[in-house]
Amino acid sequence: MKGSQDQSSEMQNSRSIKHDLSQIKRILVVGNGGRENALAWALIKCPEVEGVWVAPGNGGTENHPGCMRLEIKASDVKGLLEASLLHQFNLIVIGPEIPLADGLADVLRDSGLVVFGPGADGAKLEASKTWAKELMSEASVPTAKHWTVSKKEEALALLKKQQRPLVVKADGLAAGKGVTVPDSIEGTAKAIKEAFTGKFGVAGETLVLEELLQGPEVSVFGLCDGERIILLPAAQDHKRLKEGDLGPNTGGMGAYAPAPLLNSNELNNVQKLVLEPILNAMKERGIDYRGVIYAGLMITSSGAKVIEFNCRFGDPECQTLMPLMGPELARVLYACALGCLDQAPILQISNNCSACVVAAASGYPEAARTGDLITSKIKLSKSIQLFHAGTICDKKGNLLTSGGRVLAVTAQGKDFDQAFSLVYKGLEQISFDGITYRNDIGNQVRHSHPQDKKEY
Ligand code: AMP
Ligand code: GLY
Repeated sequence: MKGSQDQSSEMQNSRSIKHDLSQIKRILVVGNGGRENALAWALIKCPEVEGVWVAPGNGGTENHPGCMRLEIKASDVKGLLEASLLHQFNLIVIGPEIPLADGLADVLRDSGLVVFGPGADGAKLEASKTWAKELMSEASVPTAKHWTVSKKEEALALLKKQQRPLVVKADGLAAGKGVTVPDSIEGTAKAIKEAFTGKFGVAGETLVLEELLQGPEVSVFGLCDGERIILLPAAQDHKRLKEGDLGPNTGGMGAYAPAPLLNSNELNNVQKLVLEPILNAMKERGIDYRGVIYAGLMITSSGAKVIEFNCRFGDPECQTLMPLMGPELARVLYACALGCLDQAPILQISNNCSACVVAAASGYPEAARTGDLITSKIKLSKSIQLFHAGTICDKKGNLLTSGGRVLAVTAQGKDFDQAFSLVYKGLEQISFDGITYRNDIGNQVRHSHPQDKKEY
């Protein structure tokens, strides 16, 4: 493997060359979720792209003409490297956070491949909450006040001094389960004690305690080439399993975009006050961040504050956003990966409203039931899409459930009423035993019309 210094000087060199972005013919997307299904669907729209391979993909990958599966897991670094060299992929887009945090992008870049997704250094933005908090403080990014602790006694003493409930977070990646938001001091103490029982493994050896913020949440995504950023419309996710935002936290049960929680001025402020400073702070640390910066924000009474950063697209926000992107997306991600966003075509973003609702399996998120037969009579069109996540095709060609979040129906319309009406009509055409979905996704924006939206 080449040293990281060699890698970084090669990345710097690629920045100054004039690239022919039309040479993007073969793309590999790594991951098996709904996010990767939507990415493949969006990337194949580029006229120059001849094929998009998804490793390992899912039961819906090959429903998109031009998209193919490669039976290689996202954790199989050697297999992905060999396949990338063999198939001569021009671009590799890494979907999930774990392979990014484990350095998959570094291994591929060391072999001269062009990758959209940060190296292990930049992926720390998501993989270590302490690291991300330090970076935010260095960059003066607005966020909740925090304390890092590595001993139970220290954490309990701090809580006693603070005399208010604090959010308790495992420092490392804990599959979305490492955060407790207690509503009392006793609840905080309980969460601290539990976290130190080893429930989060190494991820929970260090905790971040945070001031409790209040307000609606919104996700903002920036496509970065290490120096520049392209902002995507803000999206709102619905993390709880049940209607009325009740029940356990999930990966996300539905989303919509553009979220009117941020108007265009406010979104530009997020770029200036959050995304650019964090990218610059990484640059100062010698990190050439080429991929998505996903800022999870809370809109508090004193403005937007960062709740967390992720180093990838959100799922299901990605399924919601992809149908709004123009066919230039593949070239834009290629330019990010090459460090030359200044040479990319302008990314056309539709000003339609996009809606997405996830159909989950029974038992999700604790223990999702799998192996149920899926039937779909949904009629797809330019404004309605079906993205697969936890699905597989068996040897007889039957489509079966294979994970918690099974499918996502997405649709676009001139307003959110139209988009959600298409989504919910579509969901009625899908069935599998135990199907469950929220009927209130986007209630915040339904029955609203473009003239009611804040100016975009
Ligand atoms: P995270 O994994 O950091 O995104 O946290 C998961 C969820 O916990 C967030 O989406 C918020 O709903 C909630 N949360 C995290 N940090 C805070 C905070 N400081 N104040 C209030 N809620 C929070
Ligand atoms: N939808 C939230 C996430 O992807 O983390």
